[in-house]
Amino acid sequence: MLREDQILFTYLHLAPDPEQTKALMQSGATCIAYETVTALNGVLPLLAPMSEVAGRMSIQAAASHLEKTNGGMGILMAGVPGVSPAKIVILGAGVVGRNALQMAVGMGADICIFDRDIERLRQIDMFYGNRVRTFYSDSLLIEQEICEADVVIGAVLLPGAAAPKLVSHDMIKKMKPGSVVVDVAIDQGGCFETSKPTTHADPTYVVDGVIHYCVANMPGAVARTSTFALTNATYPFVEALANRGVMKALSIDHHLRNGLSVHKGVLTSEPVGKAQGLNFASAEELLVE
Ligand SMILES: NC(=O)c1ccc[n+]([C@@H]2O[C@H](COP(=O)([O-])OP(=O)(O)OC[C@H]3O[C@@H](n4cnc5c(N)ncnc54)[C@H](O)[C@@H]3O)[C@@H](O)[C@H]2O)c1
Repeated sequence: MLREDQILFTYLHLAPDPEQTKALMQSGATCIAYETVTALNGVLPLLAPMSEVAGRMSIQAAASHLEKTNGGMGILMAGVPGVSPAKIVILGAGVVGRNALQMAVGMGADICIFDRDIERLRQIDMFYGNRVRTFYSDSLLIEQEICEADVVIGAVLLPGAAAPKLVSHDMIKKMKPGSVVVDVAIDQGGCFETSKPTTHADPTYVVDGVIHYCVANMPGAVARTSTFALTNATYPFVEALANRGVMKALSIDHHLRNGLSVHKGVLTSEPVGKAQGLNFASAEELLVE
């Protein structure tokens, strides 16, 4: 259906999806990925609202699946006086991770969070003090923490690329039966080796006794909140595309240009090219008319 003179401006998540990449290249359309449009300080402004929603939802989903009737080990995330709360490990301290953290702190859980960005860990440490343990991401430490965990939230991202597999199948086997993993990063292929995408109609499956929640479009369940949040962020770019036309809008705004993934049959995303072993060109050279 897509044609050469059309603009596709939406979430694409092409790195783990060779079929869609090929189809978009064959269409000849100009395809701009929301998730790689940038803003000052390396922020991803069109990913952020959905990441805020998904990060907050991840703790709701985990709490619900810890309940016995939903297959979990039958523990209350917050605990009660005299009984410990759930232990939560959050992998990634970006937007998803920090929003999950905020909810988990609110629920009274026992939390640790991993990242490779020391500055992010420093900010969390300053804000939450010893309420939250922060760790530099390292596979031995991750293994140690997830063996004790009731919940693990996967929230890592290498922009535009497939998510790094931080948790192997062997590590999943060492987790407690009835524990829950929520792989929010599933839209980039997931950061657990055992993850595969699920839908809201059937959100979970079990591997070696561990419940896996891997819904690729978590914000869809709270569509009203998500639509308002996303439209607030996309509107200025849509306005620029409509008022200036796609070539001019991309030429003058390098943040929008960073979202360009496919243009007239040519792949312009380096991480997608590397993930799929495809040739790619820089957006700048293609936009010279
Ligand atoms: N499933 C859904 O419905 C849904 C919704 C929104 C976002 N997402 C996905 O969630 C993921 C996270 O998004 P985000 O907005 O939080 O991204 P972000 O860029 O804000 O944060 C990602 C974090 O991962 C960290 N990271 C990278 N490699 C790491 C490693 N090896 N160990 C530990 N940390 C590492 C980065 O330093 C960064 O802090 C993305 O894949 C995004 O597409 C999914």
